[in-house]
Amino acid sequence: MLKRSPAALVAASLALAASCAVAQPAGKLKVGLMLPYTGTYAALGVAIENGFRLYASEQGGKLGGRELEFIKVDDESDPAKATDNVNKLIKRDNVDVIVGTVHSGVVAAMARAAKESGTMLIVPNAGAGVVTGPMCGPGIFRSSFSNWQPAYAMGEVAAKKGHKRVVTITHKYAAGDESVGGFKEAFEKGGGKVVKDLNLPFPNVEFQALLTEIASIKPDAVYTFFAGGAAVKFVKDYSAAGLKKAIPLYGAGFLTDGTLEAQGADADGLLTTLHYADGLNTPRDNAFRLAYVKAYKLQPDVYAVQGYDAAQILGVGLAGTKGDITKKAEFAAAVRKAKIDSPRGAFTLGANHNPVQDIYLRQVVGKENKTIGIASKALADPGKGCTMK
Ligand code: BEZ
Repeated sequence: MLKRSPAALVAASLALAASCAVAQPAGKLKVGLMLPYTGTYAALGVAIENGFRLYASEQGGKLGGRELEFIKVDDESDPAKATDNVNKLIKRDNVDVIVGTVHSGVVAAMARAAKESGTMLIVPNAGAGVVTGPMCGPGIFRSSFSNWQPAYAMGEVAAKKGHKRVVTITHKYAAGDESVGGFKEAFEKGGGKVVKDLNLPFPNVEFQALLTEIASIKPDAVYTFFAGGAAVKFVKDYSAAGLKKAIPLYGAGFLTDGTLEAQGADADGLLTTLHYADGLNTPRDNAFRLAYVKAYKLQPDVYAVQGYDAAQILGVGLAGTKGDITKKAEFAAAVRKAKIDSPRGAFTLGANHNPVQDIYLRQVVGKENKTIGIASKALADPGKGCTMK
């Protein structure tokens, strides 16, 4: 047997220790941002990216010790292009993690591709039930909400106000359908009745015929899900049609978030429910708002918060694996036990990886969605059909 001198043995063990010390993966972590940068939801995509980059820059540009490299794809909120777009990031660019997207019809294809390829996915908006329901998985996380959450909270609010007959109006796609479904579930449990569901194809914004129908039905109230450019136009058209004075309009908070500059007085007084609000006045939110305004010369909205928290989730997971995103089980375990210190208020992820969070009741006052209370405390998405495979 080959004998080694004590000096050689010391050198060998030092070399071994050194090789263990470099266990942290070298090189930049490739982050694929798949977001809308054009179309109805363009402003939402920009706010999400801003929020994500803000948190990363607060950490010195690194998460879990890894520098980040961003690769961007504009998904145009177009479900027909979703599979091709996500495969650009997975197959062409070989990204380590995907952050996206906004539109519920696009995110379903992303979840499928992420699962098939084993790529980590963090969803910073799209509330599609399928992502944290039947398609949930150990490598899929959401920093935002499920479409059911703010809608269910608003259904309870409308029922408590004593409304009996409500008309709903939304874009005809997963987000609209699920939002109306959540509202209806709580509202009808509380003794009300949805008498008519109105809708139009995404991203159509020709509301006139539907507004005429609402006027002829004369419901006690209207519940709506619209966001981005469509929300701006709907609120203005509802007011111009003379309906605002006659029939209370309620919405999932996307109706008035990031839109108030453009909606002006037509939004004044509207009541909405969402997991973020203006005037929370907590040290955490105040610091976030100050930093966001300083960085972008813009007020943050719910989308900016969701982007910021997507970066926090990635940071927590990477801290649990010393920067190694291939250690999927350890990454998921670290995220599952974490409390995310969000500007909205701290939250945890439920068993289906969707935030368990307070849903605020807000009222538009001038350019703000003022908090007027918590409509639903620590609301968890039911995660129907999630088996975490
Ligand atoms: C969605 O498609 O899931 C969605 C889009 C905009 C705002 C909220 C939800």
